[in-house]
Amino acid sequence: MSETTIQEEIFKRRTFGIISHPDAGKTTLTEKLLLFGGAIQMAGAVKARKSSRHATSDWMKIEQQRGISVSSSVMKFNYRDFEINLLDTPGHEDFSEDTYRVLTCVDSAMMVIDSGNGVEPQTEKLMGVCRMRNTPIVTFINKLDREGMEPLDIIADIEEKLQIECAPMSWPIGMGKRFRGVYNLYKKQLHLFTAGAETRLDAGITISDLEDPKLDELLGSQANDLRDEIALLEGAANPFDLEAFLKGSQTPLFFGSAINNFGVQELLDAFVEFAPPPGAREAKERMVQPNEKDFSAVAFKIQANMDPAHRDRIAFLRVCSGKFEKGIKVRHHRIGKEIALNKAIVFMAQDRSQVEEAYAGDIIGIHNHGSIRIGDTFTTKEALSFTGIPNFAPELFRRIRLKDPMRRKQLHKGLVQLSEEGAVQVFRTLLGGDYILGAVGALQFDVTVERLKTEYNVDADYTATDFQVSRWIESDNEKKLTEFKRSFEVNLATDAEESLTFLAPSLWKLNYTMEQWPEIQFLKTREYGAS
Ligand code: G4P
Repeated sequence: MSETTIQEEIFKRRTFGIISHPDAGKTTLTEKLLLFGGAIQMAGAVKARKSSRHATSDWMKIEQQRGISVSSSVMKFNYRDFEINLLDTPGHEDFSEDTYRVLTCVDSAMMVIDSGNGVEPQTEKLMGVCRMRNTPIVTFINKLDREGMEPLDIIADIEEKLQIECAPMSWPIGMGKRFRGVYNLYKKQLHLFTAGAETRLDAGITISDLEDPKLDELLGSQANDLRDEIALLEGAANPFDLEAFLKGSQTPLFFGSAINNFGVQELLDAFVEFAPPPGAREAKERMVQPNEKDFSAVAFKIQANMDPAHRDRIAFLRVCSGKFEKGIKVRHHRIGKEIALNKAIVFMAQDRSQVEEAYAGDIIGIHNHGSIRIGDTFTTKEALSFTGIPNFAPELFRRIRLKDPMRRKQLHKGLVQLSEEGAVQVFRTLLGGDYILGAVGALQFDVTVERLKTEYNVDADYTATDFQVSRWIESDNEKKLTEFKRSFEVNLATDAEESLTFLAPSLWKLNYTMEQWPEIQFLKTREYGAS
């Protein structure tokens, strides 16, 4: 296959995730996007899956939910000439480190903001992850059919809390009961709002001059409000700048209502046009270009499968370069083995099927029995280690209590394997050797004890800890590091890869310690295989 053909395939691809706070409308928007892509025929399909997921908490249900999330982890669909990979970023109870890690494997993101609430905490966290890679972000302000914040206040809120410049692409006319639609500032087209989930975007009414009396005919007294707001906007908002968007310093803004399918196609059209195709990825050895002839891929997520008896897992790999063809022989570099990828799967919105071919930006799934870890690299030839898919400092901590002390070895084995899968992070205190588990979402703790029981026959539960924050510790100054270790023995632990970790009782204490110890680096993320 020539590099030109590979290049053409890459240009067609868009791989992205949605960042939002629970209830902002991510599921609803996903569903509408899939409808446009023809990937689902009926509204309600994604939604039904979500509600079946949340009615649950016992183990069988967790299993069920895990099975479900295997197929919803990646949703591939076509739109116009584009092949789109939408990577699920679990929220609600499923919120976990995986949600962060998925974002390190996208080329762009869509941010959904509830116009009633503005920027909310989970969005801020996810934005922090996007900022690590300067991921370009398109923003959708949702729920304009309800009373919410004034659009200019939403912009100020985004700019202040997320430190990203906003460039409105369209402007809403009223909100709630007075919501009349949006005016596209670039195409100079008016889109009138009609309620109803199946509504598709009309071509729009071209109004190139806002003084056109047609605007008054269509909008009545709200025509003048629109004129005033747009005049105000000219001084207050930034014009769209493609380069700034691609650098992640500016976000184009769209307004609409996902549930009414209003503004969604406009968003999707702009997204496929502006968002970048799969780009180069960094490996320890060198930058790897997506259009290189040789195939390479990296594992970013491991999902335990539904059947605990088989301990079967699916590893999700992002293709980074070259062409994947069914049966391709690749080298699994960490274990130095060659494997033939005969049964890799690709995930469609409601289905999965065997992959025949795939290119950079595509996600493929491989069944394995625990031989794949997050961060593992697969290539046809060259030994590469991709970086940029790190561990993130956990936000919740529990001390594990083993009920039968004779099972300590099994506990250790189970925890190491589960941490390699990225299900949970495991730390051992330097003093006492206690196991402290760290997670980003609380559900991970339940899943961990259940999996310890069913897969490793280990009965364990949790006790509380005083720890609330953690950071990985590094320093070039050996003397200071030794001093630091001596001063903070009770707060130090090692993670599953033996990296030194500082566990603090509060963010305040962490910040204070950081100020006192400028020679020590306190890291929020840690690359796999770094130590
Ligand atoms: P999430 O995935 O981000 O958590 O949000 P989801 O799409 O589930 O939406 C959360 C709630 O917001 C849902 O209502 C959904 O119907 C509603 N919603 C989404 N988009 C819009 C919109 O444009 N306008 C209005 N008014 N509401 C919207 P719910 O009552 O929690 O669920 P349901 O009973 O509607 O399923």
